[in-house]
Amino acid sequence: MPKVGLLPEEFQRGPSGIDVRKTNFPFVEKLLYCAPNQTNKHMSINKDVKRMTTHVIQSMKEQGEKVTMLTAYDYSMARILDEAGIDILLVGDSASNVMAGHETTLPITLDQMIYHASSVVRAVKRALVVVDLPFGSYQGNSRIALESTIRIMKESGAHAIKLEGGAEIEESIRRILSAGVPVMGHLGLTPQSIYKFGTYTVRAREEAEAAKLLEDAQLLQDLGCFALVLEKIPAHLAAKVAQRVDIPVIGIGAGPEVDGQVLVTHDMLGITKDFKPRFLRRYLELFEEMRKAAQQYKEDVRSGDFPNEKEQY
Ligand code: KIV
Repeated sequence: MPKVGLLPEEFQRGPSGIDVRKTNFPFVEKLLYCAPNQTNKHMSINKDVKRMTTHVIQSMKEQGEKVTMLTAYDYSMARILDEAGIDILLVGDSASNVMAGHETTLPITLDQMIYHASSVVRAVKRALVVVDLPFGSYQGNSRIALESTIRIMKESGAHAIKLEGGAEIEESIRRILSAGVPVMGHLGLTPQSIYKFGTYTVRAREEAEAAKLLEDAQLLQDLGCFALVLEKIPAHLAAKVAQRVDIPVIGIGAGPEVDGQVLVTHDMLGITKDFKPRFLRRYLELFEEMRKAAQQYKEDVRSGDFPNEKEQY
């Protein structure tokens, strides 16, 4: 185990060789960096970090270390993902689809997002928890956006918020940032605008839309967003954005040349049975596994096999 606790001269170089005195890391993060005799170019920056912060995420981009993000909506799943070392848990408004069974993300409410977020926060020891501002909770004006953000931060204990859009929501982003809340942007396919797009197909294939996306990415960085999600856009465009902006770009269906990846956990675990877009890699087929387990339980109860003599008092 690397030794932690530093700040005397000889301890001021982090595991990746960054001089932590020159970073804008808060004092507490400096304390989490290991001693120089453990320094190694191939060591992971985030491996020794006890608590992910927006600053650590930024330094991962600077060191070329990929950021991992998955969605979480409840305590039990969040515990598993946090123990697996996932850097960011996104309480996505995709909860509207995968948890509540709605066709779109539009119906989920601010109260419901706060319920999901507070369950996730209770589970997490290390990951950064980012919460989606749901549809209708920020588009009205910047005051509504700030009020919704404050409710999420106060009532759930989350660490940052995410919202969809670029120049159209500039004022809201400014106001949220000026209240001291970290903001993650989201461009490309923005599911809250599904009725404007009409389909869930790849965005920004056309030159004009690609140019607008590049401008919006730059704007989000200039405003002070700490990271940016790019959803379902051509890989070459996502790579261009990731090269142009200094903030971490996290892709979903945006190819490999970005700074990190995000997936909806229920999709990558195969719990959502029929959703199989090209960009998705399924690590398990849990729908089938869980169906079989439930069927076995039913058979065991009916046959009298469960509970047996060891499973009673
Ligand atoms: O709500 C969500 O799950 C998301 C991800 C797809 C990025 O926004």
